[in-house]
Amino acid sequence: MVDLLPHVFGCHSIVKTDIVRADGIYLYDKDGKRYVDFEAGIWCAALGHNHPRIKHRITEQISQVVHLAPQLTSNLAEEATTALLEHTSFPDGKAVFLSSGSEAVELGIKIALLYTQKKKLLTFSRSYLGAYGFAGKGLSPDCWAQVDIGACVKCPKEKCGVSCPHLAAFRLDETAAFVTEPVLASGGMIAPPAKVVSFLANEVRRSGGLVVVDEVTTGLGRTGKWLGIEHFEIESDISAFGKALGNGYPVSAVAMKREIAERVEGEGFYYVQSHQNDPLGCAIAKEVIAVLHESNLISRTKESGKYLGDCLRKLAEDHTVVSDVRGLGLVYGMELKADYFDDARSFEKIFDMMLERGIVIGVRPKQHLLRFLPPLVIGEEDILSMCECLGDVLTEIDNCGVGRSG
Ligand SMILES: Cc1ncc(COP(=O)(O)O)c(C=O)c1O
Repeated sequence: MVDLLPHVFGCHSIVKTDIVRADGIYLYDKDGKRYVDFEAGIWCAALGHNHPRIKHRITEQISQVVHLAPQLTSNLAEEATTALLEHTSFPDGKAVFLSSGSEAVELGIKIALLYTQKKKLLTFSRSYLGAYGFAGKGLSPDCWAQVDIGACVKCPKEKCGVSCPHLAAFRLDETAAFVTEPVLASGGMIAPPAKVVSFLANEVRRSGGLVVVDEVTTGLGRTGKWLGIEHFEIESDISAFGKALGNGYPVSAVAMKREIAERVEGEGFYYVQSHQNDPLGCAIAKEVIAVLHESNLISRTKESGKYLGDCLRKLAEDHTVVSDVRGLGLVYGMELKADYFDDARSFEKIFDMMLERGIVIGVRPKQHLLRFLPPLVIGEEDILSMCECLGDVLTEIDNCGVGRSG
């Protein structure tokens, strides 16, 4: 493979380096070729790239103050906090602004452990939660327990109970936090069944544990509601935000109920990182929330999400390679049949085939999944033309697979 950026550490693939401009749902390369970005960057540019109000607010704030020491935080932190909390179920709670979704999830979990004085954490298998090791489940196998999301999705029972063989082994009474994503986007676009989410949330809470909701991908409109958790009949105690909150700028937040914050503050909890409550990040977050508030973008997302889902399902009917289409709002996945592909590289070729046609989609070879999380401002016309291109690509695969030998 050609090394496009020979001095850039190669911890992921790089296929294109000449994107020089972005505007709304479009990216432009140096030759002026236009691409429709069905990944919204990496699910961040919810209002569209280079949104005029965000651009204006950034320019304005940069000329005032970008960064401050935590003990000198500007009043923007309070303003952004109240704006964010207004859309949670605990508007009188507290929040802190950070730099990445991983950090927000991790801090939320730390707070839950401290508040409950319990040691175990529960989540679904295939949750992502973050990359920093602690919240990312891999490095702390002793405290994490995982409910098999595959078994829950297939389970035909109407209600969940302690007698369920998939749930019986968990010490829900010892659990500090049930940590869940409203849609497991990185985990394969799987919405956990409401019955199991309610059961686990209620059981954990009954013994003094908390519900931590990772809204990094689903928060701020992406599912057609302000928060992903609104699709369920449970309340969050602590919520983590990221991605859309900065519309591409790295700002995240963790928000929590007031009694949790006050108890943990009272115990002298200390947490400082370089860009905590930075004026620039807070100004952007506040403006993103204001734009969402003042526009009809969230209800529009519900409609455009339905349109995207219908178009993808129509493709599934017409193409034998498609095994499933699933999603909510503008978080959609299309699973393809593994036996049409020789290997991961041959699956990745779908990315190139779509790119040639001027469209960026997400491609996850391990899950045989195509992902669609465009900016929320996407219109039906662009959804339709993406689906037409995808239809051509799927026809090619139906006929002979991609990279199939023989
Ligand atoms: C649900 C969820 N949580 C947390 C993260 C981590 O966010 P970040 O990449 O900003 O650290 C991601 C990133 O994809 C995510 O999808």
